[in-house]
Amino acid sequence: APKAIIAPSILSADFANLGPECSKTIERGADWLHVDIMDGHFVPNLTFGPPVVAKIRPHVDRPTEAHGKGTFDCHMMIAEPKKWVKEFKSAGCDLYCFHYEAAINSTAAESPEARSDLKTSPRDMIRYIHEQGMLAGIAIKPATPVDVLYEVLDSHDDAERPDMVLVMTVEPGFGGQKFMVSELPKVQALREKYPDLNIEVDGGLGPGTIDQAADAGANVIVAGSAVFGAKDPARVIALLREAVDK
Ligand code: DX5
Ligand code: ZN
Repeated sequence: APKAIIAPSILSADFANLGPECSKTIERGADWLHVDIMDGHFVPNLTFGPPVVAKIRPHVDRPTEAHGKGTFDCHMMIAEPKKWVKEFKSAGCDLYCFHYEAAINSTAAESPEARSDLKTSPRDMIRYIHEQGMLAGIAIKPATPVDVLYEVLDSHDDAERPDMVLVMTVEPGFGGQKFMVSELPKVQALREKYPDLNIEVDGGLGPGTIDQAADAGANVIVAGSAVFGAKDPARVIALLREAVDK
């Protein structure tokens, strides 16, 4: 499996102090920052948008290589993922991870007077994100079976293959929820089929749950409350890394 990438979720950071919170987190050993974007439609919660991402971006060095340290991993919990690709690129997003459920079910695509430029599909989304010069991720919620991902993962066209998949281990929308062990067979199935794939898990990860996730084959580890709520965040980041790389 690829090596550990630790991506603390700034959803649990001090929002009044976001720039320094981001730079401190990288200094404490994190690889990426996981940036949760919520629109109040796809999930019942709101966070922030491109202006905030643009303001925090200069507090963290840009990655010098694909998947490198300082990657802004934007988890797009939004109903119209295609609409925001360019704006998040301009704001400083490096990896745009959209939800499969939103891409097949875009509100724009459903309405009769839909703007055709907002209709999309997983393969279109991945191609479009790559064209805009970002890495592409595709996420699934707990109710979505893993095999919906095989179509893009098995594509012979590099432009249509995701750089990462995200298996949600909680219902998206809020930090601090209980880890759903029921989602790990998805991770296992993906790891068996794709030994080199970056597989991210998000929700309820921390010292008490990391071993199960690592054993299943996850290598990109999101942790919000476990890192930002810790007395010693650097220790938690190191512990998560050791569990994956052991
Ligand atoms: C939930 C978000 C997560 C969240 C994880 O919708 O996608 O990234 O911040 O928080 P913890 O690690 O506290 O479960
Ligand atoms: Zn997330």
